Amino acid sequence: MFIETCIAPVNIALIKYWGKRDEELILPINDSLSVTLSTDEMCAKTTAAAASSFKRHIMWLNGEEVPFEQNPRAMRCLKEIQQLALAKEQLKFPIEWKLHIVSRNNFPTAAGLASSAAGYACLVYALAHLYGVQKEELTAIARQGSGSACRSLYGGFVRWHMGKSNDGTDSIALPVAPCEHWQDLHVLILVVNDARKKTSSTKGMQLAVETSDLIKYRAQYCVPQRTAAIVDAIKKHDFAKLAEITMRDSNQFHAIALDTYPPCVYMNDVSHAIVEFVHAFNKAVGEVKLAYTFDAGPNACLYLLERDVSIVLAAIKNSFPNDAEQSVEYVKGIPIACDIGENN
Ligand code: ADP
Ligand code: DP6
Ligand code: CO
Repeated sequence: MFIETCIAPVNIALIKYWGKRDEELILPINDSLSVTLSTDEMCAKTTAAAASSFKRHIMWLNGEEVPFEQNPRAMRCLKEIQQLALAKEQLKFPIEWKLHIVSRNNFPTAAGLASSAAGYACLVYALAHLYGVQKEELTAIARQGSGSACRSLYGGFVRWHMGKSNDGTDSIALPVAPCEHWQDLHVLILVVNDARKKTSSTKGMQLAVETSDLIKYRAQYCVPQRTAAIVDAIKKHDFAKLAEITMRDSNQFHAIALDTYPPCVYMNDVSHAIVEFVHAFNKAVGEVKLAYTFDAGPNACLYLLERDVSIVLAAIKNSFPNDAEQSVEYVKGIPIACDIGENN
């Protein structure tokens, strides 16, 4: 038997990916840019094993069997890795051998905290190690598992270039700056509700492309300028600029979710209260020290500098105490960092 275990980090987008121009290859309608988080608090861990005795490919996610052979995305990732292995004549075992795959997320799955990003990055990385092709460009393969997964293969600040080609060879993620570039940038994850979202990201963005007018405007006229401006802010360590662009982009993404017909409502009352809290906090301190962003779910991700973590945590505990109607279930403080890696 051959066996490999890997762990992969979550990434949270500052400029959101929302909308595909090709559903099968997962080609987006705009560039996106994210920050990869340290795996200490949130990660996916995946073990892939190959053996001559296995009868079929089987996958277990968080202890439950999930479709693998019937999952076109997982099968596409596997086929792509196998093709690389065949092309390099690096086969450690016969290509016909079936796999057993076990994966676990140590944070809520499908709750808008990027489980598909960590999950598919981890799957592709583990398969690449299993088949001995770890030195290849893997982001275009991870992209075909879940779009956001391509950005989890690098640490620090990462940009997914939408690409122009029809075959997706230029739709890849590339690092903008490593985590060491801005070591005091910190993230607080505020879990409002850890339940599965009603509309998956895949379905939500598909409906948006079909029915929203605003989405075309955003992809064409807003994202290119915003992406250039945020790359500049990252290079200059301009937190206030990074924060404003991040909050505006989160708001615009949720406006598009609401412009979808029927609308997709991902944020809830507590999410909106967090938005108000952040703006009130920034006003009170007289500068932009805190930024929010919400993926396709009610949970908040706050960006701030490390020196402000304790004062912000105290303010959150005060505004959203556990026994109140508008409470935050738990808060995790996470430094940005982390390259994907073998199990350690
Ligand atoms: P999220 O906001 O958590 O990314 P999505 O709707 O984008 O939610 O994707 C959730 C789906 O991602 C899950 O239903 C599952 O199919 C897939 N997924 C999540 N975690 C993993 C994992 N560790 N390995 C493989 N696939 C995963
Ligand atoms: C709101 O990558 O989960 O988190 O490609 O269909 O699997 P699929 O969607 P997914 O979408 C992520 C959407 C987002 C924004 C982002 O991460 O950029
Ligand atoms: Co996702």
